[in-house]
Amino acid sequence: MIISGSIEETRNQVKEWKRQGCRVGLVPTMGYLHEGHKSLMEAAKRENDKVAVSVFVNPIQFGPNEDFASYPRDFGQDAALCESVGVDLVFHPEAEEMYDEDFCTYVDMDGLTKELCGKSRPTHFRGVQTVVSKLFHIIPADRAYFGQKDAQQLAVIKKMVRDMSMDIEIVGCPIVREPDGLAKSSRNTYLNAEERQAALVLSRSLAEGRKLAKAGERNASRVKDAITGVIESEKFARIDYVEIVDFADITPLADLDHAKNGEILCAVAVYIGKTRLIDNFIMKL
Ligand code: PAF
Repeated sequence: MIISGSIEETRNQVKEWKRQGCRVGLVPTMGYLHEGHKSLMEAAKRENDKVAVSVFVNPIQFGPNEDFASYPRDFGQDAALCESVGVDLVFHPEAEEMYDEDFCTYVDMDGLTKELCGKSRPTHFRGVQTVVSKLFHIIPADRAYFGQKDAQQLAVIKKMVRDMSMDIEIVGCPIVREPDGLAKSSRNTYLNAEERQAALVLSRSLAEGRKLAKAGERNASRVKDAITGVIESEKFARIDYVEIVDFADITPLADLDHAKNGEILCAVAVYIGKTRLIDNFIMKL
């Protein structure tokens, strides 16, 4: 497995694979890899000849009061996991390699980023789109793999690729959960034992919402109220948002039957103590 912190070396290697006719899959990550990332790498491995993983905690997608400095990092463990899955290349640049001192070009969009996480993290998606665009230029892959836990991110990247006519297929992969239902996340590591238990309220509340929608409830407010009620019963939980949007364009829905492609995204962001966690379900109606 090649490990490189150099843009030039990484690009040349991937170009060489492409010259040999290989299909290349890319898994962009911020490291501290877990089973969720592993499932993305395994999907990339199944569907491509070569797999590249990027491990880069991207400073520009964190707001000034967010957890960039404390975001968990363990590159030794990440590299070992990549090796065990059969990853061919790990791109692990320093921030200075990615962003020159006078860096001033960003990728942003008008739609899709204003709701959900975009409300409380106004510069987050600009940072994500910018770094993902850079990664697509550095690693000209055929396919890139993203988890559905960050459903808004997945929708934003798909839209960016379409709008910018980028020559890459975006593959969304299902959420991977702990046996008790908690969605896998690098940020779960911030939770103490009591908070870890309290965090189950996210998946439990969404299960309640899903049950109502499956039973035929189409009024979004009623589904959101049911979810909110479950979350509010947990004393360590503080709601950032509970929202139901059209998955096609991330605009709020009043009636679940009004999603353009018939796909709704029901998403929550909840603080458990100081840790902000997200979870969701996507439903085709
Ligand atoms: O989902 C993540 O880990 C990050 O947002 C990504 C896509 C790697 C960009 O930094």
